[in-house]
Amino acid sequence: MPSDQPAPVKDPVTAVAHANIALIKYWGKRSAEKNLPAVGSVSLTLDALKTETTVRFLSDGDKDHLILDGRSAGTEQVQKVSKFTDLMAGSNRPPVFIESHNNFPTGAGLASSASGFAALAKALNKACSLDLDDQTLSVFARQGSGSAARSIFGGFAEMKLGSDNSGDGDYAHQLYDENYWDIRLLVAVVSQAPKKIGSTEGMNRTAKTSPFYNAWIESSPNDIRNIKSALAERDFQKLGELSEHSAMKMHGLAISAHPSILYWQAGTMESIRKVWGLRKRGIPAYITMDAGSQVKVITLPEHCSIIKEALTELPGVTDVIEAKPGPGAHLITDTE
Ligand code: PMV
Repeated sequence: MPSDQPAPVKDPVTAVAHANIALIKYWGKRSAEKNLPAVGSVSLTLDALKTETTVRFLSDGDKDHLILDGRSAGTEQVQKVSKFTDLMAGSNRPPVFIESHNNFPTGAGLASSASGFAALAKALNKACSLDLDDQTLSVFARQGSGSAARSIFGGFAEMKLGSDNSGDGDYAHQLYDENYWDIRLLVAVVSQAPKKIGSTEGMNRTAKTSPFYNAWIESSPNDIRNIKSALAERDFQKLGELSEHSAMKMHGLAISAHPSILYWQAGTMESIRKVWGLRKRGIPAYITMDAGSQVKVITLPEHCSIIKEALTELPGVTDVIEAKPGPGAHLITDTE
């Protein structure tokens, strides 16, 4: 540990963080090294999708351990969390034992890296007695995964771009808490398999090869402005239309990369068409998708059952998960 940091506590510390869905998407980095996003984003934290992470510093041994969903994680994943732990605890720290559990499929476009790094940041904050505020934790979480910066907060959050490349100005903040507006998100699970092209690789390839990349960057501030006004007015149609358009733009952009990046499966298309059909019949439902094949449907509580029923009947859909606005990252070892 660096001399200016307190020694890590011996007792295990457990934190929970929830996944979030970007209503206005982040895709592209302005610095790969510091993981600085090229565009801002606005998200909704989801109660139903969560990661629980326990951190324990060890008094002996020389390597870090990561247990992910009950199994020892692979070298690459251990290296990622070791690097992240160094970032927060300093590189002279003792080895750490981290146990993390997702209540949903890992790495399949359900934002497990967002909830994962937000939970880890929150747990390390306590385990190392750092006492950092949520803004600083969001700066740290961002370095694990861009979208994790937003999972520090409950409800609706905005990821801001810093005015320079130091990284200190690139963090999320809460726009409204989880009690502000009871909208719902239904996740049509199309595939439980981890995606073949991770978001970092996908973003880099897109930035390098898509002829539309600059247009994507230029159109982003307007999208952020508009979704913030839809939120302020609780205008569901506006929120839905903007969210769906942002997701389609992001996927169109990825498809326009060379070689093309296509996250969709047959069940993705079936779900999109089903939701569009329901909307034609007057049901307020809009789709969004991240770097994976799952289709997420933004709707209002009273329309959930009919949409769920329609999605469940599709041959390409294996499960439908319903989520409400969820809380920010928190410890479960004390009464914080
Ligand atoms: O947090 P990352 O680096 O896995 O990137 C996430 C990117 C998207 O989920 C596709 C969009 C977003 O803003 O969450």
